[in-house]
Amino acid sequence: MGNLRIVKINDHLHYIGVNDRYTHLFEAMWPLPDGISYNSYLFDGGSKTCLIDCVRIDSVREFMDNISEVLDGRPLDYVVVNHMEPDHTSSLKSVVERFPEIKIITNKKAVKMMSNFYNIGEENVVLVEDGETVEIGERKLTFYTTPMVHWPESMVCFEEETGILFSQDAFGGFGTLDGAIFDDQLDWEVYREETIRYYTNIVGKYSVQVIRALKKLEGLDIKMICPDHGPVWRENIGRIVGLYSDLSEQKTEDGVLIVYGSMYGNSEFVAESIARALADEGVRNIRIRDISKTHLSYLISETWNYKGIILGCPTYNVGLFPPMENLVEVLKKQKMKNHVLGTFTNYTWGGGAEKKFAEFAEQSKWEVLPTTVDVMGLPGDEDFEKCRQMAKEMAEALKK
Ligand code: FEO
Repeated sequence: MGNLRIVKINDHLHYIGVNDRYTHLFEAMWPLPDGISYNSYLFDGGSKTCLIDCVRIDSVREFMDNISEVLDGRPLDYVVVNHMEPDHTSSLKSVVERFPEIKIITNKKAVKMMSNFYNIGEENVVLVEDGETVEIGERKLTFYTTPMVHWPESMVCFEEETGILFSQDAFGGFGTLDGAIFDDQLDWEVYREETIRYYTNIVGKYSVQVIRALKKLEGLDIKMICPDHGPVWRENIGRIVGLYSDLSEQKTEDGVLIVYGSMYGNSEFVAESIARALADEGVRNIRIRDISKTHLSYLISETWNYKGIILGCPTYNVGLFPPMENLVEVLKKQKMKNHVLGTFTNYTWGGGAEKKFAEFAEQSKWEVLPTTVDVMGLPGDEDFEKCRQMAKEMAEALKK
């Protein structure tokens, strides 16, 4: 085979996915500084062939060339649709048009979306249910539903004979596959942070469902994981399963993330004062982020990671500084756990931000520090004393 973009995984399986280095924002929201891969696999069952998940439409020409090269004149009999999000299905219509006899293996929940997105009817669909096995020629795939990981119709499939799990979004991450596709051939440290950001941005809200999915799959003898994004795992499977398990259980690091918004520097002054006081209290892992310059994507990832979270901003139109208001709304929906929260605010002629933070603190169910710092304009000695008190309380809370 001459096309080096295609990777032979074993005698009956090829990687035929694509890299996306042109999209700036995944889902039009999440930055992709290192791009993303859309993985797809061609499974050879002997007398029948089967494509497992597709790619985003922008790379359809490369994708169709990859399929043709592996098939080498044979027909494509099946396509598995594990997940309907268009990063994996927007080229499905092209596949169906090229192979009109193809059967689409998917589940009931996906059919309605397929009809709506692509006007593909049910006539060529083979419906599978949770735990059902389908013969692909002389080989077999068993399907397991994984609802809300990360859409309601999401499912995975497993080849018991070889122990290969096709996990769609689960165990995936941001970042293109630059050269190697296998975990044992690449530097995991290059991918780790982008995998965490992918999890926290895309899947994190559904961590309860991720825990459920991990439990459902734990009985399988998994020897390789082929996700729809990021590396194929064949050597250190425990590393990616362990990371997903830690993230879904929301294990946090000892340390404090301070996120501030500041129009004229006074809230930044308070942020830095608290950070200095935290350092005096022995806290070693402290990060300060300016909310106006840090993308929400990274703030979500970092708030997931740190046990201590301190948020601060000025009052703006009797409420929170708008970028902070947005972050707080997102954090409410993320359903994060295991955090300790501190807040500080600033005002000149009338407050409002402090009350909004208090409402968030109440709703968050996080441990909340008793001391808050509400400053008029430039902070003074009394405010610095409160910063010290807040830092002391945070340091104590981190020790628990
Ligand atoms: Fe990679 Fe939920 O799509």
